[in-house]
Amino acid sequence: MQRIDVNLGEQSYPIFTGSGIFNQFNRILRTYYQGDQIAIVTNEKIFALHGQTLMEQLPEDVQILTIFVPDGEKAKSFEQLQNVYTQLLESHYERSSLIIAFGGGVVGDLAGFVAATYLRGVALVQVPTTLLAQVDSSIGGKTGINHPLGKNLIGAFKQPLFVFSDAKLLQTLDDSEIRCGLGEVIKYGFVLNRSLFEYLEANLDKALQKDEATLRHLITVSAQEKAKVVMQDEKEAGLRMVLNFGHTFGHALEAEYHFSRLKHGEAVILGMKCALEYARLIDLLAQEEYERGLALLNRVPIPFESAVLDVDALVTRMAVDKKVKQGKVRLVLIKRIGEYVFHSVDNTNLLRQAFEILKS
Ligand SMILES: NC(=O)c1ccc[n+]([C@@H]2O[C@H](COP(=O)([O-])OP(=O)(O)OC[C@H]3O[C@@H](n4cnc5c(N)ncnc54)[C@H](O)[C@@H]3O)[C@@H](O)[C@H]2O)c1
Ligand SMILES: [Zn+2]
Repeated sequence: MQRIDVNLGEQSYPIFTGSGIFNQFNRILRTYYQGDQIAIVTNEKIFALHGQTLMEQLPEDVQILTIFVPDGEKAKSFEQLQNVYTQLLESHYERSSLIIAFGGGVVGDLAGFVAATYLRGVALVQVPTTLLAQVDSSIGGKTGINHPLGKNLIGAFKQPLFVFSDAKLLQTLDDSEIRCGLGEVIKYGFVLNRSLFEYLEANLDKALQKDEATLRHLITVSAQEKAKVVMQDEKEAGLRMVLNFGHTFGHALEAEYHFSRLKHGEAVILGMKCALEYARLIDLLAQEEYERGLALLNRVPIPFESAVLDVDALVTRMAVDKKVKQGKVRLVLIKRIGEYVFHSVDNTNLLRQAFEILKS
């Protein structure tokens, strides 16, 4: 088991990573939480697969409540938020209680927001069960729900007591969910860590096949990278923007092609191709690095029909993305694999051209 410390003063906490580490959960939980009311927020699918593993590790002398929310993004709603509050209130959960988020990013965001707000805040433990949640969403304290007018618009920062990421839980994930998580992992390689990128070049196929040792390594390195960024920019004032590499293009694709079931991480992989193309077009990125980057991304199979690409619609979408500043689209690009730069777009024609890469 590895431990990564997220140092945020009073709000500091560790991330534990490994595979087959659940036999240590009880001991760690008892170190960080001495209260006697624990509520698990999860969904039925995850709980059926892995609930037993968690339940066996909970202390015997505490009150335990399991709260189920629907599968998928619809769980991040006002309705489900109220559902969770109601169950906690009906079971008389107090200020000293603990919420365990047991699921992917959806459960983590909802349960985290509950923990930030229920009785003005109770303790939280994140037990992420998807690759995306283990490498990204469980780290950094961002929690929240969706508003009918947009995603993730209602939320709060809430740091957990600890994060517990066991790669073994990922064996039951669909391939598309592995791809989504890998999109974020590849992103860390591109913007922050050249040796992670090189490791991916050598081991991407093993990761796609859910090789446990490979996933464990990727989770640990990714958690370190995200933790470093969060430590330098806890409240998202600037540096956290680097995590948007591929996302400005990706969000446009995600919004435009949600009907073809393009998932977030998959859209980010396509978005990173566009970002590489853009960087090449403005002579920021050398041809050799560009080709190397593209070659890695092309090894992740994404079910996307390039014939449906509507470049004008995509560029219009980019202009309304929240990362637009003073009327200009702001991009994260790389000048070399492992080194990011920030860039303001002067010529939207270049955005158009960058999307064209998806047609080749
Ligand atoms: N807070 C943040 O910083 C942050 C960062 C990135 C993304 N997010 C949010 O995360 C969410 C996406 O998270 P996600 O990709 O984990 O999706 P998700 O939570 O919907 O999980 C994906 C699917 O996998 C299932 N699942 C979960 N664990 C499983 C397991 N071990 N075996 C089999 N199936 C399992 C889920 O039930 C679901 O059907 C989005 O709502 C996004 O906004 C938040
Ligand atoms: Zn993302």
